[in-house]
Amino acid sequence: MANLAYQAVLFLVLVFLLREVIRLNEASNTFPHSPPTAIFAFGDSLSDTGNAIQAFPFYASSENSPYGSTFFHAPTGRFSDGRLIIDFIASKWGFPFIEPYFKDVFPNYKHGVNFAVAGATVQNITEPIPFFLPMQTDHFVRFKRSVYALLNTTSRYAALHVPTKEAFRDGTYMIFIGINDILSGLFDHDLAPSVVKEKTVPLVVAGISKAVQDLHKEEAKNFLIFNVPAVGCMPMVLAMASQGPFNSTDKMGCLKEYNAVADFGNKELEKSLINIKKHEKDINVMVIADLYSFYLDAIKSPASYGFKESEKLKACCGYGGDPFNYFPPISCGKDPAAKTCSKPREYMSWDGIHFTDAFSQKFVEEIMEKMHYLKAIGA
Ligand SMILES: *[C@@H]1O[C@H](CO)[C@@H](O)[C@H](O)[C@H]1NC(C)=O
Ligand SMILES: *[C@@H]1O[C@H](CO)[C@@H](O)[C@H](O)[C@H]1NC(C)=O
Ligand SMILES: *[C@@H]1O[C@H](CO)[C@@H](O)[C@H](O)[C@H]1NC(C)=O
Repeated sequence: MANLAYQAVLFLVLVFLLREVIRLNEASNTFPHSPPTAIFAFGDSLSDTGNAIQAFPFYASSENSPYGSTFFHAPTGRFSDGRLIIDFIASKWGFPFIEPYFKDVFPNYKHGVNFAVAGATVQNITEPIPFFLPMQTDHFVRFKRSVYALLNTTSRYAALHVPTKEAFRDGTYMIFIGINDILSGLFDHDLAPSVVKEKTVPLVVAGISKAVQDLHKEEAKNFLIFNVPAVGCMPMVLAMASQGPFNSTDKMGCLKEYNAVADFGNKELEKSLINIKKHEKDINVMVIADLYSFYLDAIKSPASYGFKESEKLKACCGYGGDPFNYFPPISCGKDPAAKTCSKPREYMSWDGIHFTDAFSQKFVEEIMEKMHYLKAIGA
């Protein structure tokens, strides 16, 4: 019986995914829901397409070479050698790259706005980076009000360069944040993984849930939420933690207790989102993109995604060589002694913390072409 029920559920999920695949194929801009619309993104350096370098000029390493070298052939403020996950998603939908909220010259927000700022946390804890999640959602509210006022005028500029009112309602709201809260607990405050689980995770989950509800009050109905990647496989975390007391690794070489924190947080977030979806009947689509599992699978079998087994736990751009090529005082983009690997495509990690263009591309192929690593909440 249990098995039959399980099969029925599986069937429903497959029907749902299949329907989405068909819609995806009908037009490039229909996933995870129909009409051509906009992306409003909230997050940290894993999504920042240029906000931090505007807010804090000449400060972030992403403003320096070799950041951007693979795809843009110049630094753009993205913490990668090339494009980020949000860039690949925008392209799949047929949009230009989503412009940062702090863009100064000729911004075009027709297809949405990116509010993500490198270093951002969910909680108000990192004093040098005031753009924590509630501030980003406030920026969104301010932006939306300005656009609504502008749309009441007869400005041609308005019509061409800002989202329509429908786009605010039908747009996809991407939230991808939480890793900095966890890393700050572990490394800035030297908390044990178990303490981060107990103390930090509930605040992160509550903060993301509140952001979803705040955006929903502003008419947002479609959410694409990314979970926290397997932090225990990141070269930076490996380099910092493997000399410490919580150094037990799994057979891939990732730190068990650090991954357990991310895994626990992701499960708690999922529970909270299920609860929100249950109560907010007019939320249309709520999908979790499971970056955690994809990263682990890619670490398990790098070659199946085009990555090199010997480089799977190493930063492409860094210092120190094996095993992680990560040494905090000599970091990518800050110190010329940090060298760049010759084939970034063979690496998952660009600088020890952030992903390569190739990794982000593979992940977006998985979620948007194959419909893998997606969890539709309440579907
Ligand atoms: C964030 O925290 C700082 C320090 O506690 C406080 O001064 C500031 O008002 C807080 N900001 C917001 C928007 O709550
Ligand atoms: C825009 O115009 C409508 C209809 O004239 C009006 O009800 C609304 O308050 C205006 N909104 C803004 C933001 O000015
Ligand atoms: C790993 O952690 C244990 C304690 O859990 C400690 O005794 C050992 O020294 C650590 N190993 C390294 C290489 O630091």
